[in-house]
Amino acid sequence: MAEGMLQGKVAVVTGAGRGIGRAIAIMMASRGASVVVNDVGAGLSDQNADQSPAQEVVDTIKKAGGQAVAAYDSVADWDGAHRIIKSALDNFGRIDVLVNNAGILRDKMFHHMTKDDIDAVLKVHLYGAFNMSRATVEHFRKQESGVFLHMTSRSGIYGNIGQANYAAAKLALVGFSNSLQLEMERFNVRSNLISPSANTRMTQSVPSAKRGGAEAQAARLAAMPPEGVAVLATMLASDAASNVRGQIIGARGSDIILYNHPRPVRILQRDGGWTPESLAEAMPAMASLYTPIQAGSDAMKWNPV
Ligand SMILES: NC(=O)c1ccc[n+]([C@@H]2O[C@H](COP(=O)([O-])OP(=O)(O)OC[C@H]3O[C@@H](n4cnc5c(N)ncnc54)[C@H](O)[C@@H]3O)[C@@H](O)[C@H]2O)c1
Repeated sequence: MAEGMLQGKVAVVTGAGRGIGRAIAIMMASRGASVVVNDVGAGLSDQNADQSPAQEVVDTIKKAGGQAVAAYDSVADWDGAHRIIKSALDNFGRIDVLVNNAGILRDKMFHHMTKDDIDAVLKVHLYGAFNMSRATVEHFRKQESGVFLHMTSRSGIYGNIGQANYAAAKLALVGFSNSLQLEMERFNVRSNLISPSANTRMTQSVPSAKRGGAEAQAARLAAMPPEGVAVLATMLASDAASNVRGQIIGARGSDIILYNHPRPVRILQRDGGWTPESLAEAMPAMASLYTPIQAGSDAMKWNPV
């Protein structure tokens, strides 16, 4: 395999048996990385175990001349996450890149959401990222280098109907990544978030009604192959992105979208402090600055039934 921009690096990609993770694992390997392909083989909303998706990706990478091993543990499990990272060290001797990508959905209106719907989604997206990053961070600190990439979502950044559990987990990852960046800056470690849009079973599960129907949805999705996200992830993992730290960057088809961080747009002050009445009088000065919440985007609109 020709020298690539990730030559000599070792990457762990979670949820890499399908969709975006699969595309990232294959593209990183094509650019010279040795890849741990982690996937528990879950259904869209469950935690069933099936080794074949991860194995298929490993076979694909090896067939193209790349290096990869499969790891089937769940990221939601503390010990399992440590075993996944150990597999990078045992097989390839180090770890340079962790991509926290594994995910499931349990979409429902919040008043229908069960404890299990909340727990399951937080455990994979949020605890999964905690577990994997905690198992990795000591190695990054010692070697004074490393790259964290976490998949957030427009549903997290803006909120979305039917995804209170998922949106909360995805926005929590923003706070998590920013904190990792602040803590690990002095060890030359980078932490960034990707907000992807891609044609996967996850987006195919979004109801097409109200969005121009199934045909329009299929055309929209076809314009967003997962490889578009893999290009961004591969570049961000490389030394070419050494100045990209603490950012949220979207990838949608051939669009690459830089998000800002929320910051105050106006601060009201009053000598002696506020009373509820005086604040009620002053608040209209802020009204022109209110921005409506835009649901996670048209593409993620939930059609309540
Ligand atoms: N597809 C999009 O447009 C989109 C948009 C926003 C965010 N995302 C995020 O991108 C990531 C990938 O999504 P996708 O669309 O490729 O989904 P996908 O369902 O195609 O793939 C997710 C993979 O994660 C695996 N997985 C689930 N639970 C796991 C666990 N506990 N341990 C290990 N692996 C597990 C599944 O088996 C599956 O192969 C997710 O975090 C998702 O929330 C996707």
